[in-house]
Amino acid sequence: MARLRQLIAGNWKMNGLRKSLDELRAIKAGIADARCDVAICPPATLLAEAAWTLNDGNLLFGGQDCAIDASGAHTGDISAEMVADAGGKLVIVGHSERRTDHGETDALVRAKAEAAWRAGLLAILCIGETKAQRESDQTLDVLEQQLWGSVPDKADAANLVIAYEPVWAIGTGLTASSDDIIAAHAHIRARLTNRFGPEAAGIRIQYGGSVKPGNAREILALPNVDGALVGGASLKAADFLGIIAGTP
Ligand code: 13P
Repeated sequence: MARLRQLIAGNWKMNGLRKSLDELRAIKAGIADARCDVAICPPATLLAEAAWTLNDGNLLFGGQDCAIDASGAHTGDISAEMVADAGGKLVIVGHSERRTDHGETDALVRAKAEAAWRAGLLAILCIGETKAQRESDQTLDVLEQQLWGSVPDKADAANLVIAYEPVWAIGTGLTASSDDIIAAHAHIRARLTNRFGPEAAGIRIQYGGSVKPGNAREILALPNVDGALVGGASLKAADFLGIIAGTP
C-alpha cells in the first residue's frame, strides 16, 4: 500500500514564551516544500497568536490537551472549542505526562477525544508502555488495552492520529529499536483494523520518544510509521526542520 502522508507534530509541552514565536516563523519558512503535514502544539498562552499570525495552511497549530466540557466552571481548563476558536486544528489527548501527572484514565482520554471531535479538531491520541511494562513483556497488551479504553467508536482516518510513545523513551535520549517500533506499530494497525475495518488503513500512527534529526530518517522509513510526535527537538527550528527533512 502507498504510504500515508506523514504528520510531523511538535509538542512544546510547558516551554515557550512570546520570543519563541521566532522559532515558529523559522519553521514556517522552512516547510514550503515539505513532503508531510507539519503541526506545532505550543503552550496555550501562545496558541492564538501563533495561529492567527502564522496559520495559513502549511503549518497547523494545536492544543496539548482539552477539557471534556465545552465551557463551564472548570478553573484552569481549556475546552476543545476554545482551542478551535484560537485557530487550532488539532489537539493532543492522553499524553503520558498527563496520564501520570494528572491521573488521566483511558475513559477520560476517550471523552477528551470525543470533545475534540465535537469541536471539529483532529485528535492525536497517545499510548505507550512504561519501562516496567516493557521489561515484564506486557507492551503489546498495554497498547491494546489503551486502544480499547481510550479510542472512541467513531474514529476514522480524518479525525484520529495515534501516537505511540514508549514512556521510557520520552525525554531520555533513548529510542525504541526499529524492531520494537515495527512490532508496536503493526500491533496497533492490526487492533485498529479489527475494530474499524478498512478505515484503519488510513489512520496515521506516529512514533514519539527522543526523535531527533539524527534518527528521524530511519524511524520515519519504517512500515506503519506515519509521522512523529516530537518534544524537545521541536523547540528549535533547525532541529525540527532536520526531522521534517527525514520524511520519506
Ligand atoms: P521527546 O521528543 O522530548 O522525547 O518527547 C516526546 C514527546 O513526549 C512528544 O509528545
